[in-house]
Amino acid sequence: MAQETNILAIESSCDETAAAIVSDGTRIRANIIASQVAVHRRFGGVVPEIASRHHMENIVPVVTEALATAGLAFGDVDAVAVTYGPGLVGALLVGLSYAKSLAYALGKPLIGVHHLLGHIYAGFLAYPDLPLPAVCLVVSGGHTNLVYLEDHTTRRILGSTRDDAAGEAFDKVARVLGLPYPGGPELEKLAREGDPRAIPFPRAWLEENSLDFSFSGLKSAVINYLHHARQVGQEVNRADVAASFQAAVVEVLVTKTLLAATSYRAGSILLAGGVAANSVLRRELRSAGEQAGLPVFFPPRELCTDNAAMIGCAAYYQYLRRDFAPLSLNAIPDLPLN
Ligand code: KG4
Ligand code: ZN
Repeated sequence: MAQETNILAIESSCDETAAAIVSDGTRIRANIIASQVAVHRRFGGVVPEIASRHHMENIVPVVTEALATAGLAFGDVDAVAVTYGPGLVGALLVGLSYAKSLAYALGKPLIGVHHLLGHIYAGFLAYPDLPLPAVCLVVSGGHTNLVYLEDHTTRRILGSTRDDAAGEAFDKVARVLGLPYPGGPELEKLAREGDPRAIPFPRAWLEENSLDFSFSGLKSAVINYLHHARQVGQEVNRADVAASFQAAVVEVLVTKTLLAATSYRAGSILLAGGVAANSVLRRELRSAGEQAGLPVFFPPRELCTDNAAMIGCAAYYQYLRRDFAPLSLNAIPDLPLN
């Protein structure tokens, strides 16, 4: 049997310090995450400088734990993969500097991975034979994109948000509803007790057939609704607000994803990024895909939010075509996907 390719992957673009070992792009042998959620919660969001400091404390322990969990030694590693953008520059630099030093010391190739490509490849970790071409909806805290995946080397952005990312909208609305950080999952929980048809919040469709998104108007509508209710002394059902907001976001995301998939004759739809953990989005997208005769794939929830296994999977396809990075690789906070 041919020997497996073991990639040690590192992710530190935001507030999770993560290390994983992925063999042949599909087998997760370790997926370790040191979360800083508790640290940043009292600030209501990620404080970049604090994130960098915690990455520095966590990076060696998470890599050590990943190797121990996989039952491997540094000598078994075939390549070192790392996220080099987009993200918080100080946070990225911690993982990147460590990865570069390690690749140099081991004499193994360094693979620089785009964070969003990592999110997309969480889908290929779970479904390596996912039918291509595919349309992927990437919805994270910092990005909202529709991406056409022709094959493992050719991709094209079909649409993007013009203002807030979907996850950012979830987090901001959660905050005005008094929910703790990170708001997305908390808002989803609250919405379970509410009526999604209670308040007709606006849907931003933009120009006819546009595949772009806009969520800032919706966010303002929620803030105005709460403000007005407070002014006139009207009691607010927070669960109804959460459910109605979530329904508005999901309807736009699902409709535009289906439009993209049918217009570009995709063979499947893939959902990726932190917001892909949202149950209502998963359910609605799957049901819309079924109606259009298109299979819809989403990674297991733990692979939707930031992790290093997804970076290891994306890196494997780069490894196969020897797409290696020089040791001069720098962190690029606004790294474009194309
Ligand atoms: O991809 P991710 O882990 O980090 C970034 O690359 O940004 O995404 C984090 C985002 C946050 O905005 C978080 O609130 C949102 O994903 N999120 C959710 C859910 N789980 C995470 N949004 C809605 N519903 C969820 N269940
Ligand atoms: Zn992410």
